[in-house]
Amino acid sequence: MAHSPLPSDSPVGAPLSQAAAGDVLGGSGAMFDGIAKRYDLLNRVMTFGIDQRWRRRAIALLELPKGAHVLDLATGTADLAIMTAQLHPDAQVTALDPSRGMLAVGETKVTAAGLQDRVKLVVGDAQHLPFADATFDGVTMSYGIRNVPDRLAALREMTRVVRPGGRIVILEATEPPANLLTWGALLHIRVVVPRLGAWLSGAPAEYRYLQKSIAGFPSPAAFADLMRAAGQDVVAVVPLLLGVSHLWVARVPQQLGSPR
Ligand SMILES: C[S@@+](CC[C@H](N)C(=O)[O-])C[C@H]1O[C@@H](n2cnc3c(N)ncnc32)[C@H](O)[C@@H]1O
Repeated sequence: MAHSPLPSDSPVGAPLSQAAAGDVLGGSGAMFDGIAKRYDLLNRVMTFGIDQRWRRRAIALLELPKGAHVLDLATGTADLAIMTAQLHPDAQVTALDPSRGMLAVGETKVTAAGLQDRVKLVVGDAQHLPFADATFDGVTMSYGIRNVPDRLAALREMTRVVRPGGRIVILEATEPPANLLTWGALLHIRVVVPRLGAWLSGAPAEYRYLQKSIAGFPSPAAFADLMRAAGQDVVAVVPLLLGVSHLWVARVPQQLGSPR
């Protein structure tokens, strides 16, 4: 992918190399432009590196066939997209995000990993995907759905672009139920993450938003219902580390009976 200056009038769905500077399409992509350069470091510090283990688990739950074409939504700096390509050397990955700043960091990483032929970065919004029906064998989205204003629209788009029988795996941060076992985790999410994030990134509002958006996310069961409302068969809802994150696994039915 080219590292030359980017043209200024690219449409939604354009590869990153053709996207306009400052292209931020809905959601909170603009916010992520501001923290893109420090995002990976902050992730590793604030999750003690466990986040990568959970991305790996998300990929395993996709149960990809040989030669799969995978879509990673809200790809950010492309961690999950790169990991998918590394774990499945015959897979093609399309990695989409509205934040050009995050994608630019991802592009550097994709190039460093020598994966530019198999990981394609695209500027876009999960609520309006620029892909034909049944294009992909599976979709992933890690720590992204929380930021999408119309989550049902994004879930319906996932149902539409995955072939029947293909899987959708969503990884998201959640607040664990308050009890004796989880007080340390709650303290970490509510107090340590916003303060440490503000200090390390120099962007306090962004890390206050992070904590608020986790608190405002639906319960795991309510989010599974939203996936069903989008026409998906929910296969599993997996709590991670006392419930500080969850994985939702769904399959696109062979025959779409549910409302889409
Ligand atoms: C917390 S980051 C997660 C990045 C990456 N998936 C990861 O696991 O590290 C959230 C990402 O969601 C993206 N985002 C925000 N609104 C979006 C939307 N409407 N559609 C797709 N992605 C969106 C942001 O630009 C940001 O890169």
